[in-house]
Amino acid sequence: MSEETLSNLMNEQRRFAPPAELAASANVTEEAYERAASDREAFWAEAAERLDWGQKWDQVLDWSNPPFAKWFVGGTINAAVNCLDRHVEAGRGDKVALHWVGEPEDDTRDLTYAQLKDEVCRAANALTELGVQKGDRVAIYMPMIPETVVAMLACARLGAPHTVVFGGFSADALASRVTDCEAKVIITADGGYRRGAPSALKPAVDEAIAKVGDLVRNVLVVRRTGQDVDWAEGRDVWWHDVVDAASAEHEAELHDSEHPLYVMYTSGTTGKPKGILHTTGGYLVGTSWTHWAVFDLKPETDVYWCTADVGWVTGHSYMVYGPLANGSTQVMYEGTPDAPHKGRWWEIVEKYGVTIFYTAPTAIRTFMKWGDEIPAKYDRSSIRLLGSVGEPINPEAYIWYRKNIGGDKAPIVDTWWQTETGQILISPLPGVTSGKPGSAMTPLPGVAADVVDDEARPVPNGSGGYLVLTQPWPAMLRTLWGDDQRFKDTYWSRWEGLYFAGDGAKKDDDGDIWLLGRVDDVMNVSGHRLSTTEIESALVSHPMVAEAAVVGAADEMTGQAVCAFVILRESAGVQGDDLVTELRNHVAKEIGGIAKPRQIMIVPELPKTRSGKIMRRLLKDVAEHREVGDVTTLADSTVMDLIKSKEASAP
Ligand code: WTA
Repeated sequence: MSEETLSNLMNEQRRFAPPAELAASANVTEEAYERAASDREAFWAEAAERLDWGQKWDQVLDWSNPPFAKWFVGGTINAAVNCLDRHVEAGRGDKVALHWVGEPEDDTRDLTYAQLKDEVCRAANALTELGVQKGDRVAIYMPMIPETVVAMLACARLGAPHTVVFGGFSADALASRVTDCEAKVIITADGGYRRGAPSALKPAVDEAIAKVGDLVRNVLVVRRTGQDVDWAEGRDVWWHDVVDAASAEHEAELHDSEHPLYVMYTSGTTGKPKGILHTTGGYLVGTSWTHWAVFDLKPETDVYWCTADVGWVTGHSYMVYGPLANGSTQVMYEGTPDAPHKGRWWEIVEKYGVTIFYTAPTAIRTFMKWGDEIPAKYDRSSIRLLGSVGEPINPEAYIWYRKNIGGDKAPIVDTWWQTETGQILISPLPGVTSGKPGSAMTPLPGVAADVVDDEARPVPNGSGGYLVLTQPWPAMLRTLWGDDQRFKDTYWSRWEGLYFAGDGAKKDDDGDIWLLGRVDDVMNVSGHRLSTTEIESALVSHPMVAEAAVVGAADEMTGQAVCAFVILRESAGVQGDDLVTELRNHVAKEIGGIAKPRQIMIVPELPKTRSGKIMRRLLKDVAEHREVGDVTTLADSTVMDLIKSKEASAP
């Protein structure tokens, strides 16, 4: 599609109306918006009735001490019971909860709700044997295997908040998270399969523990790949020894609605990741209702597949808690989309008859590049609804997705939310909204969002500004782990009473919302959040680096790509390609492969203002091969010429 057609498309505001059949039997209709608008708390209370509670709540929302919200105050609930036991008790124990697909072909397992419940009970008993008590934190560093879901739900059952660390993160990243939330136990595996080969995890756990000291008492290890592992007697235990041997009977305690469910670390604008705290009742209400509403889930007939890794919030809200609370049958896939061939995802869709498919724009753009003929080889006719998350979906990718995956009929829900929000907040409703390619459309019923200017005034239609949430919502973060002040400063200090999401947005002439990306020093690479500061600190921790500046430059495939500008220490001596490779690997080691810069330029100086602040805007111009913008506020305006001449001579 040419640039011109693209912009015409946006100007035209083409709309795709809901399919008549879907609209006629949709879970949620237009009426929900009015009902929620007339009484938001009553609306969420009704959504809460979809779950099983012990003690009913006395108060839907306590907002007497903003920004610290309490939802369903006085209520007691167990997330694992809501995800498993209640389905089994209702006679749905034989229903498949997970169609798990390993990366090696023919390595599959189906787990029913009854089987999953038994496994979770065994794991809960085994964790109790290891001394895990309510309130203790447990870190989970796992591949995409059923035991990961079991581990999370076992923690939830016990009321021991889990912190899942993405398996692609480094030992250092794991160590800092384990330290921050003082995890007693780490659950891991020998490794997992990625890109056709076993990829080890246990060595990173050993390395992390060596850094954090004797904080971690036990490591519970799942045998997945069979690769050799070092073993610390007394500390390390095999999952198959302790979980398999444990009883499948486990009496679940009901926890307070505000009991911590999990901590998920995410990048902020400073070097230190933030521990986003989610609690139990409101989180489960928010995720389960939105999963049912936005994906129009029909648990009896749908086969749902969210391709996110469980190491990210999407895996928490829309693979574990939302779908299982709703009794969905879903696909969980261990590996990469191209292993062993580029049609793997569509082969899985065909095999299991996937009806609802949820992925990220970066994946869609990758498939576009690989070619229409790949999905065309498989039967995708079961698909009735498509979802997108993680970054703005460009109209070209939207149209491709709709046509090549959705058979030109499945509506697309472009869902905007964050690790912090816990649940989807802005999205079309598939039975109600006529979708526009590229727009997340409107806040869901019960959600109050707006786009405001610098003075917090709502912008008129047709204008842009900052995205804010004006009222609390059930699955919102409650604080940052151990840092209430940073929680206030980060999200609530810009304007009184408003949650600032960090995203720029525009209202179009109809008042529909278009997300424009981050307005802070957070990059979005393949739908993953990375902080410029965090990568800069990683670079500067290398002995040859004196100073570093990182920017997110537009990238056709990954949305944004990491571009670094580095000043070497005098003592560095030789430089060149080897050093650049070494620095890229150094970042991967410090943070993880996803943070590896696409490009590193060794420069003699960085553009700074007179007060010493690096002007990343100018570096971004260089990285995106644009004419460099206004340099008048630079302390030394010749710096940019130096950098540009470097770029011109680069290979
Ligand atoms: C971006 C992922 C545009 C946004 C669930 C947000 C989006 C950040 C969309 C959160 C979307 C997520 N359209 N931008 N549909 N969804 N984003 O915490 O910048 O990993 O602030 O949560 O991703 O990323 P996070």
